[in-house]
Amino acid sequence: MILSIESSCDDSSIAITKIENNKLIFHKKISQEKEHACYGGVVPELASRLHAIDLPNILEECKPYFSDLKAVAVTNQPGLGVTLIEGIAMAKTVAVTLDIPLLAVHHLKGHIYSLFIEKKQILPLLVLLISGGHTQIIRVESLDKMTILATSIDDSVGESFDKTAKMMGLGYPGGPIIEQLAQKGDENRFALPIPLQNSPLIAFSLSGLKNAVRLTIERLGGSDAMKEQDRCDLSASFQKAVKLHLIQKSKKIFEKESIKDFAIVGGASANLYIREAYEILCKKYKKRLHTAPLKYCSDNAAMIGRYAIEAYKKKLFVEPYEIDVVYTKKRQSGTEL
Ligand code: KG4
Ligand code: ZN
Repeated sequence: MILSIESSCDDSSIAITKIENNKLIFHKKISQEKEHACYGGVVPELASRLHAIDLPNILEECKPYFSDLKAVAVTNQPGLGVTLIEGIAMAKTVAVTLDIPLLAVHHLKGHIYSLFIEKKQILPLLVLLISGGHTQIIRVESLDKMTILATSIDDSVGESFDKTAKMMGLGYPGGPIIEQLAQKGDENRFALPIPLQNSPLIAFSLSGLKNAVRLTIERLGGSDAMKEQDRCDLSASFQKAVKLHLIQKSKKIFEKESIKDFAIVGGASANLYIREAYEILCKKYKKRLHTAPLKYCSDNAAMIGRYAIEAYKKKLFVEPYEIDVVYTKKRQSGTEL
């Protein structure tokens, strides 16, 4: 079995996965959303302190499996340095104490492997990754050949939902709140711009749309003056613009890439309105659409463990004295993930 640890942002999570059949033996996640909500976003230092409390408590529950462990895996990039280090310190300790190998996992590759939790992997694959930190389309050929085909030049999808919610005086995380309000709203009430609509650039950008949302709120007299229906209509109009932007740029990729399997992963892939739009697009382009179960869309250690199984088979081990947080630079399209 492999023990995997995830602490890249505001979720403390540990999983244990069986190597021979990908079966999830143990999985627990303690989310810090409530603690960060009053700040309208994640406070790194607070997140770090909460990981230092929650991770050891979860690890305690894993003790009965210690004698079955063949390796320990941990997310080491990308994420918040002060929170990643909590998981890394724990993974090092477990590896040295139990004398088992250590695997360093790239968080975004983990999100891709959320598709294969308790399943066999499907490759090659085109993936749209929409999370709190990233918006990317990636061509996944193998474990170590993942190429970025399109990426965001500013805010990510998750971030734009969070900021829209914050500007309307709503809670954190904004994604689920906006999706819910949008269900009761008129998506055609506010004519918000579709980002990069007339640009040949195959990239994602959401800061202009965010600004248009801000101006709309100002025109309505500020968030306090907004009525419940205004919030629902603005949520729906915003969500529609995000969807049209994602679909327009994805179409361009679909026209160039012949791979038949397409997937959406990451926290924002839990959005059913966006999923529906991709069901229609995939039908049109004769692609098979794959998504992870809703509970595995947001950050979790089960996806880190699933990736780790493949890395373990390839013996991609790191020494405990070598592993550290990797401060990832923003990657350009055309480069490896
Ligand atoms: O993948 P994730 O858990 O963390 C990162 O790796 O960033 O993604 C979290 C992001 C948050 O910005 C959250 O608002 C967004 O995913 N999110 C959603 C939905 N559920 C979560 N965005 C849109 N619609 C949703 N239903
Ligand atoms: Zn994530």
